[in-house]
Amino acid sequence: MPADGALIVGIESTCDETGCAVVADGRRVLANVVASQIDLHARFGGVVPEIASRAHIEAINTVIDEALGESGVAPAEVAAVAVTNEPGLIGSLLVGLMAAKTLAWVWDRPLVAVNHVRAHAYAPALDEEPIGYPAAALVCSGGHTALYDCRSPTEMTLLGGTIDDAAGEAFDKVASILRLGFPGGPAIDRAARHGDPTVVKLPRSLLRGESLDFSFSGVKTAVLYHVNGLPGERRGRKARRGPHAERAAAQPNAGRGIENFTPQEVADLAASFQAAVVDTLIIKLRRAAKATGARTLIIGGGVSANSALRSAARELADKLGCGLRMPAMAYTVDNAAMTAGLAYHYLRGGRVADYGLTARATTGR
Ligand code: KG4
Ligand code: ZN
Repeated sequence: MPADGALIVGIESTCDETGCAVVADGRRVLANVVASQIDLHARFGGVVPEIASRAHIEAINTVIDEALGESGVAPAEVAAVAVTNEPGLIGSLLVGLMAAKTLAWVWDRPLVAVNHVRAHAYAPALDEEPIGYPAAALVCSGGHTALYDCRSPTEMTLLGGTIDDAAGEAFDKVASILRLGFPGGPAIDRAARHGDPTVVKLPRSLLRGESLDFSFSGVKTAVLYHVNGLPGERRGRKARRGPHAERAAAQPNAGRGIENFTPQEVADLAASFQAAVVDTLIIKLRRAAKATGARTLIIGGGVSANSALRSAARELADKLGCGLRMPAMAYTVDNAAMTAGLAYHYLRGGRVADYGLTARATTGR
């Protein structure tokens, strides 16, 4: 049964999920189909861009058909076609962009371009009440860590981002060091439930003064040193020194190689790593909230599925007296519902794209 109001078909293909969704009035999700490629990439321990684009080509038509079928919406009822055109893997983005342009042309409907990271910050509005602005939004995913000052769904100013690894990328790399499998975030989350986050002392990189930027490569390297020892140490050479090396050397049982860690030690290390990342994210979100006078905190992106981050965000919101909006689990991962939802607001503001719209791997700051 089609709903009243503006119906938008959204398409998402930024990384390793092919998505198509139909959303009414920017919030009511009538269909949200996601074809995940996780199984194709798992044996490589990460997303292989060439495999990803090919898999999008194979999945896209079926995913669109399924979403339209599930929603019961006829093309004539569709108000616009939305697509995530940035940032992401360029080959993957192009598949979704071509599909969206084709639909817009065939149906003779406007095309709306959506930034993927901004769409993650809108995901908590799906199937829920509108978000109360001004809001401070923390988006952390496999490819991005970003803080925004949000005045409305469409007015977002970037306050800070990662200068090296994204939060989710750090989860994935540390899971690989701990041999917990891919994708690493959920695996670390699970392992950490049985671990003690105070056992291994790991750095929290806060980056000078009141900076709202992030850096996660230090904590990842500290985990690596904790597991394998300092560079050269396991081969009997003189170890190189540095802040992370000094810290790792001070840990009990450090440097024995992951094959010699007990399951409890792995769990403690996973919990300690997770706590270091969550502490850093929450400290920065608190700074952003204070700097912007936010009345709502938003977290979004794949890492917003993390149980420790969700409870720390709840605690922070209570302390600050702010509202907290987190996406339902289905909308933490990449999906096209958030694309279509945010596009509704762009469409209302007359922000439509033309057929010259290009895909962009990065969007800069
Ligand atoms: O937003 P997303 O689906 O894709 C990108 O836009 O990158 O995020 C995927 C990332 C991966 O790095 C994955 O390990 C991480 O989100 N992730 C988690 C959890 N679930 C997914 N990280 C920490 N804890 C989780 N429970
Ligand atoms: Zn994402």
